[in-house]
Amino acid sequence: MSEAVHAAAVHADTVRYPGTVLVTGAAGGMGAAHARALGARGVHVCAADVADAGPLVREIRAAGGSASAHELDVADAAAWARVVAEIRTERGELGGLVNNAGISRRLDFMATTEDVWETVMRVNLHGPFHGMRAAAPLMRDSGGGSIVNISSISGQIGYFSPAYSASKWGLTGLSKSAAGNFAAWGIRVNSVHPGLVGTTLLDGADAFVAAAVRSVPAGRTARPEEIADTVLFLLSDRSTYLTGAEVTVDGGLVSNGLYHRILADTEQTGGDLG
Ligand SMILES: NC(=O)c1ccc[n+]([C@@H]2O[C@H](COP(=O)([O-])OP(=O)(O)OC[C@H]3O[C@@H](n4cnc5c(N)ncnc54)[C@H](O)[C@@H]3O)[C@@H](O)[C@H]2O)c1
Repeated sequence: MSEAVHAAAVHADTVRYPGTVLVTGAAGGMGAAHARALGARGVHVCAADVADAGPLVREIRAAGGSASAHELDVADAAAWARVVAEIRTERGELGGLVNNAGISRRLDFMATTEDVWETVMRVNLHGPFHGMRAAAPLMRDSGGGSIVNISSISGQIGYFSPAYSASKWGLTGLSKSAAGNFAAWGIRVNSVHPGLVGTTLLDGADAFVAAAVRSVPAGRTARPEEIADTVLFLLSDRSTYLTGAEVTVDGGLVSNGLYHRILADTEQTGGDLG
């Protein structure tokens, strides 16, 4: 085998990940899926949450992986400083950050009180801001890395709930700003925009979800693991030139949902629609 062919073969078979990745909101939902996927690939997972991430950490360890639990309210800048200091001491490095923690309040404009607005903004937008400010210097000292911010399709289109939509649009813009700022430190920053994903975040919204799925060309909600696959890609050496990008993972909802539903509602399925 020539050297070039050998190098190509090695590249085709090997995906490299950072040695240590911090995932917020890791105790449940999609965050737990990201943590499990990373743990299964030999990455040390720093699982941070306001809830107890202990059970997840024990599960990752029982499966042969490496993980640590960190108590963190992402809205608290001082707590971020403490957690990153813990990681610097215990691990000495950090190559990835997944700002996944988020909350949803499905309230329309006039039902959104000042308190709801501020709470959602603090977690969904201020949280990733504090997180990137706290983690980026350690990532720089570790030789660079990748930050993945979990926004939403609500951060790409007009969504009826103003606090959630504005927080996720804010995170879309914050990611692009951070991508420019941190490029000089070898840190890439991208945002992921899931559509409907089957987690507890959708609990109590069965009618809303059932109606929404009618606008999803894929015809179903996503499994958390399908979002984790995109997060893995963005953390890996398979995306080294990808930064400042929005990656939409929504079964075609944003790009084709409108006409998918119009055709379904009019029972027109293709061919010459006149
Ligand atoms: N589920 C969906 O359909 C969907 C769609 C698009 C985007 N998202 C986004 O994906 C992310 C994960 O959502 P999910 O569906 O897994 O939600 P989830 O409610 O199932 O889990 C969220 C996790 O975040 C933690 N958390 C909440 N507030 C926190 C805080 N202040 N500090 C630290 N941790 C906190 C919770 O304890 C929980 O473990 C969120 O940012 C959400 O907005 C979800």
